[in-house]
Amino acid sequence: MVQLSLLNISDKEAVRQRLQALRQELNFHAHRYYVLDAPILADAEYDLLFQELVALEQQHPELITPDSPSRRVGGAPLAQFTTVPHTIPMLSLENAFDAEALVDFEERLFRFLQSRTPISYVSEPKLDGLAVELVYEEGLFTIGSTRGDGLIGEDISQNLKTIPAIPLRLLTPEGGIAPQRLEVRGEVFIGLAEFKQLNEARAKAGEPLFANPRNGAAGSLRQLDPKITATRPLDFFVYGVSDPTLLPCKDQHGLLTYLGCLGFKINPLVRLCHSISEVISQFSTLQDQRPSLPYDIDGMVVKVNEFALQERLGAKARSPRWAIAAKFPASQATTRLLDVEFGVGRTGAITPVAVLEPVRIGGVTVRRATLHNEDELRRKGLMLGDTVLVQRAGDVIPEVVKPVEENRTGRERPIVMPTTCPECGFSLVRAGQEAITRCPNPNCPAQQVRGLIHFTGKSGMDIEGLGKKAVEQLVNQGLIKDIPDIYTLTAKNLAPLEGWGDKSAENAVRAIQQSRTPTLAKFLAALGIRHVGEVTAQLLARHFGSLARLMRAGEADFLHIEGIGEQVATSLVDYFQDQAVLEMLSRLEGLGVHVQEEKPAAEGEAALAGSVFLFTGSLAHLSRHEAKARIKELGGQVASSISRKVTHVVLGESPGSKLTKARELGLTVISEDEFLRLIGR
Ligand code: IVH
Repeated sequence: MVQLSLLNISDKEAVRQRLQALRQELNFHAHRYYVLDAPILADAEYDLLFQELVALEQQHPELITPDSPSRRVGGAPLAQFTTVPHTIPMLSLENAFDAEALVDFEERLFRFLQSRTPISYVSEPKLDGLAVELVYEEGLFTIGSTRGDGLIGEDISQNLKTIPAIPLRLLTPEGGIAPQRLEVRGEVFIGLAEFKQLNEARAKAGEPLFANPRNGAAGSLRQLDPKITATRPLDFFVYGVSDPTLLPCKDQHGLLTYLGCLGFKINPLVRLCHSISEVISQFSTLQDQRPSLPYDIDGMVVKVNEFALQERLGAKARSPRWAIAAKFPASQATTRLLDVEFGVGRTGAITPVAVLEPVRIGGVTVRRATLHNEDELRRKGLMLGDTVLVQRAGDVIPEVVKPVEENRTGRERPIVMPTTCPECGFSLVRAGQEAITRCPNPNCPAQQVRGLIHFTGKSGMDIEGLGKKAVEQLVNQGLIKDIPDIYTLTAKNLAPLEGWGDKSAENAVRAIQQSRTPTLAKFLAALGIRHVGEVTAQLLARHFGSLARLMRAGEADFLHIEGIGEQVATSLVDYFQDQAVLEMLSRLEGLGVHVQEEKPAAEGEAALAGSVFLFTGSLAHLSRHEAKARIKELGGQVASSISRKVTHVVLGESPGSKLTKARELGLTVISEDEFLRLIGR
């Protein structure tokens, strides 16, 4: 190897020039790749250039510059972080939780400005990451810090340098010059897919998992060893500067464009709005987009666009008057557990229901939440009077997550489970290993109403017009008390009832009429036989083809079917031996209900023929690959996107937006357990 001291000036100059050219080219392509998301160079070619750079720098370490892409891999670990004061405080934002609060925000601006001249705003997605400040001197990244207490942060320059979306040297397009000093501010974050990968890798390595992307980003930035930070998938969006008056921009929108030209990544969902109503409509658009974004956002930041106006408005102690954070409705909240009521389900199961001090979660007021069953209730260790954490995920029924034990005063009282049915007074029973306490009275009015609601509902016969409220009303009016009674209803009975009219009565009667020839699977699912849901009903229908054949079957015949276990078999035998059930079925027949017959599947014939599966979330007991292979083996199909063709949506852990869409389309959603049964595991 040639010693540098022996190189003549022109050789050294040639190396310096080559290094400069390499850095420029690598920086150009890194910007296209990481910032613009529009690469024009193959990864392998980039790697070759990078290797050349590293090799040359190794030979000539005195020619390494701080903006060299090789500096991103992370230097030596620190003993501790040093502090850096922010030349201008990093403020926080006040929150708005709904459209009304945004209107109030504008009203406050008008009042402060003593003018109602229309105001323009910039709306920016509010990323849930970490605020940082990056200082550039003569175009070169020098110091990067955390927000800290707003006045003083920690120097995390080494770590920030490893983030590819942060330029080490500002771009100066078309011969422009970089500002002498620039302090930019923005959010470091980890995307959702990257976060998942990161945690998967940590799980494999036996390392503790990060609770959420924000924690992952924070933990990565607070690493003393930048080599570790360099392995974390950190990303960065810029949203402002400490002092815009020093720049050739007159408003926030122009500033973001300018920062984009300097090589920073600007969120593509930033919008210029000409009125607060535009802001409000953008707020709801963004909320709709949220589930499909590759990163988590917790709201939208609204900023007065013009800097002149921003300056007039100024700031309060901790937050500027010219900006506000419009937060999305939270999906969790705390409230008080006032009481626990015990409901009786369709199968007699006693379900504890929490009665809560009303609390707004995700835009709706929650007053009641499920506690599932007695075991769950005990596991959570709840007491009456507790402060509790309640959550609502999408359209799922709200649930009590846990008590906030720190808030206990000592006046909380234990929750006492009832010993008799709150509806019919029968003594409750709890069989064997079951977590569920039941009312054993088959004539319990609560069970009957629930059974009727199930029969007419979506997982049953799906009779339009006979929803929960209508069924309760019809029972209360004495018009129906059991399933066959539904088929005696006439438009004349219904029309005079409160909330009904000729039209709705006729429609309901037509829907009832249409339900007189159900498929066997639908009918079986509608009956509400214990342990026989939609999936098992399909298995049975496919196997037996007719109700008569199924009713003749014994326990052994059921156990023969792949996917049916002892519990289901016993339940079926018990059900079809019950005299009351036989009477009900014969009454239904008399009222013109004829269950369609289908050709039973021959032995070994594709059990899932005609079924189309879609997966959302991860499966706990087998890989997607195995699941797909098994479905194909059984003659079924697997879809990759949601559509009406999908017959079963399999719900794994942490399901994605497919679940919401599936619910919207009214598709059958099954749990992993149900799926396993279906494929005979
Ligand atoms: S502006 C004076 N813009 O939200 C303005 N903040 O309390 C202060 N955040 O932790 C911030 N996205 O890091 C602004 N587009 C955005 C933002 C944003 C996320 C964070 C910020 C801070 C919090 C504000």
